[in-house]
Amino acid sequence: MAKIRLDKYITMCGNYTRTQAKKLIHQKRVTVGGLIVTDEGFKADENSENICIDGIPAVGEKYTYIMLNKPAGVISATDDKKHRTVLDLIGEDVKRDDLFPAGRLDIDTEGLLILTNDGVFAHNTLSPKKHVKKVYLVHAENYKYSEESRQRFLNGIEIDGGYICKGAVLELIEETPEYTALKLEITEGKFHQVKRMIAAEGGNVIYLKRLSFGRITLDESLRPGEYRRLNAEEMQYIKERNGDKT
Ligand code: URA
Repeated sequence: MAKIRLDKYITMCGNYTRTQAKKLIHQKRVTVGGLIVTDEGFKADENSENICIDGIPAVGEKYTYIMLNKPAGVISATDDKKHRTVLDLIGEDVKRDDLFPAGRLDIDTEGLLILTNDGVFAHNTLSPKKHVKKVYLVHAENYKYSEESRQRFLNGIEIDGGYICKGAVLELIEETPEYTALKLEITEGKFHQVKRMIAAEGGNVIYLKRLSFGRITLDESLRPGEYRRLNAEEMQYIKERNGDKT
């Protein structure tokens, strides 16, 4: 069985930061196989069930769900030779080896990205058949909003390659001399979909940010690059997506 540092194991269980984990160990509150261990670097068995804090087994959480405000410049992948990935932004407080981004945003797209190790959730939300709503803030140049254009989005824009997109709800936020700010709600996730939809109307996306994914909305207190665990309400949505109505 793989070995892991004791302080790291405790951190990965979810309730303690690395500093707090070290403190617990120094306070002699952590036992391994019934024996107090005061060395934070002690190598414990991963998934060990005999590690206790104050006599209570420290069992790692099975699934982790993180909301990340993805900044531009990092890619939605688990590793890459050229670029930093979204996982490089995640600190040891929540990092685990099996974390992956549930879905993809382009390198220059910002906003809501969920990182998890829950493959069922990823399947239940990313499969094209599931029609999960995604809302984007779009800044487009060379695009003029009109009622006709809004209707075309609603009826299904034809993008390059001849694919007719599912109906999408377009809303004008503002027209500035440099760009048109729009909100666009789509239920698909084709490669570069928003950019291609805007291109089909003659425009060019110069800024793109995902604001929501299903019932999960980007926490605007997270600056680009910051993340947090999903809260109870957001977790309820995950449970429902996974078919657990409790
Ligand atoms: N549509 C795009 O064009 N890019 C993204 O990153 C997400 C949706």
